[in-house]
Amino acid sequence: MRRLLASESFEYNQMQETTIQRPAMTERPRSFHRDRPVRTADDMARHMPKVSVRNLNFYYGETRALDQVTLDIPQHCVTALIGPSGCGKSTFLRCINRMNDMIDETRVEGEILLDGRELLGPKVDVVTLRKRVGMVFQKSNPFPKSVFENVVYGPRVAGIRGKNVLYEIVEKSLQRAALWDEVKDRLDDSALQLSGGQQQRLCIARALATDPDVLLMDEPASALDPASTSRIEDLIFELRDRYTIVIVTHNMQQAARVSDQTAFFYQGELIETGLTNELFTNPTRKQTEDYITGRFG
Ligand SMILES: Nc1ncnc2c1ncn2[C@@H]1O[C@H](COP(=O)(O)OP(=O)(O)OP(=O)(O)O)[C@@H](O)[C@H]1O
Ligand SMILES: [Mg+2]
Repeated sequence: MRRLLASESFEYNQMQETTIQRPAMTERPRSFHRDRPVRTADDMARHMPKVSVRNLNFYYGETRALDQVTLDIPQHCVTALIGPSGCGKSTFLRCINRMNDMIDETRVEGEILLDGRELLGPKVDVVTLRKRVGMVFQKSNPFPKSVFENVVYGPRVAGIRGKNVLYEIVEKSLQRAALWDEVKDRLDDSALQLSGGQQQRLCIARALATDPDVLLMDEPASALDPASTSRIEDLIFELRDRYTIVIVTHNMQQAARVSDQTAFFYQGELIETGLTNELFTNPTRKQTEDYITGRFG
C-alpha cells in the first residue's frame, strides 16, 4: 500500500485549515504614519457635523440590524466604517440616503439629521435627498450606455437639458473623479468598454454629477487591483475638501490610509468611534482591539 504524502494526511490538512481560519494574532501598531495629512482633533472640532445620527435602530422584519447607533459625521472629513461581515455597515450607509426604503418589511427608528434637518420623515423627498447624498457600491455598476450618458443620467432626471450645460457637467464630474484625461476622447464609447478601475471612477463621476454634499462609498475598491485601489484612495483624499465622505471598508490599512475618523461596528452596535490614528493605535474597547489585531472578523 502506498504511504500517504504529508500533504495528504489528516493532521497536515487540519494544520493548513487552522492556519487559514485563525490568522496569527498581531500586535496593534504603536505609532501611526501615513503619507496624506490626517485631520487633527482640533481640525475635526472646527468641522460641523454634516450628518448626525441619533439612537438609530433598523429592522429587517423581526431582525434588528442596527441597535441604538449614535454617530456624528463631520463635514469635509472622511469617516470609515469598519467591522466584521454582517455587523450592519451597509445597512447604516443605506439609511443615510434612504436606500433601505426600497427593501420590503423594513423599519427604522431614531433620527438622522442632514445639516440639522431630519431626513427619515415621510415628508422628505427622497429623490432630492439622493441627489445630495450620492452613493457608490462595491461592484461598479455603470449603465450599458455611453460614458457621457452615464454621467448625465442624474442631471437629466433632474430636468437639465441644454447640451452645453450637460457637457460642462460631464467634464467637471470626470475631472473630479480623476478620469477625464483617460476618457475625454471616448465619451461616446460604451462605459462597459472601460477597465474595472475606470468603471468605478465613472460611477464616482456619476454620483458627483448631481453635485452632492455627501458621498457614501460601500467598499468602493474591494474588487479592484492594487493600482486602481490606490487611485481611488488618492481620489477620496482629493474629494475630502469638497464633500463629506463615508466609506465602508474591510481593509483596515485602507481605513488607516484614507480616513480621519473611524467607527467600529459589531453585531449592529457602534462599539467605538474615534480619530482614526487613535482608534488604531489606542482603542478603548476590548472588542475593537480584538478586531483590529485580527483576533476575529
Ligand atoms: N435585504 C435584507 N434582508 C434581510 N436581512 C438583511 C438584508 N440586508 C442585510 N440583512 C441582514 O442585516 C445584517 C447586517 O447586514 P449588512 O449588509 O448591513 O452588513 P455589513 O456589515 O455590510 O456586512 P458585509 O461586510 O458582509 O458587507 C446581517 O445580519 C444581514 O444578514
Ligand atoms: Mg456590506
